[in-house]
Amino acid sequence: MTGLFDIHPERAARLNAAIESDGFAYMANAIPEHLWANLRDECGRARKTANSAQSDSPLAYRSSLSSLGEVGLDLVKFRAPEEILAPIFDQKFEYCEDASCYTFFEADDFLSPHLDGAENCEVTLLFYISATEPGENPEESGLYLSIYDDGPDETPMLRKSIATPEGGIMVGRGSKVLHGRNKLSEGEKIWMLTACFRSV
Ligand SMILES: [Fe+2]
Repeated sequence: MTGLFDIHPERAARLNAAIESDGFAYMANAIPEHLWANLRDECGRARKTANSAQSDSPLAYRSSLSSLGEVGLDLVKFRAPEEILAPIFDQKFEYCEDASCYTFFEADDFLSPHLDGAENCEVTLLFYISATEPGENPEESGLYLSIYDDGPDETPMLRKSIATPEGGIMVGRGSKVLHGRNKLSEGEKIWMLTACFRSV
């Protein structure tokens, strides 16, 4: 299998350092064009049958979810562990079926600060497939990944907001670093492939 992602060792080292320091790192324009087109098709079809998901506690969120198809599964089963995670972490990973899906955030959708489950989400990959442009103000836009520290009384304190334009990939230690997404405004959307991995 020829590599599609082709992450050079120096870039892998920079990403690893960023993840160690902030928990997450964003790779801009990282989804290869042909794969991206196939993901856009599959994700667009999946939107039509997605189920809305909503909860107020213990974790508050609102979004819509749909299972991965052939294109998404091939990516998370084979290419992502070998071509993205192995170079960055110098470790072998396998994807977690029950925690990988297409996730659709649209107006009024959001995801409160949380940790991903450590057993099935040691490392998280988010492929941003189709999104509106992130606005100027991260505090008011749902098109950023918010990273939090534990504040006093375990209140999450915003540490950093990372813009998440389409075509990019976020990689991070989602089970160790609190993260979330502000409520999306009218006209905002972000459709992504959410994938979780455990080391083997
Ligand atoms: Fe998460």
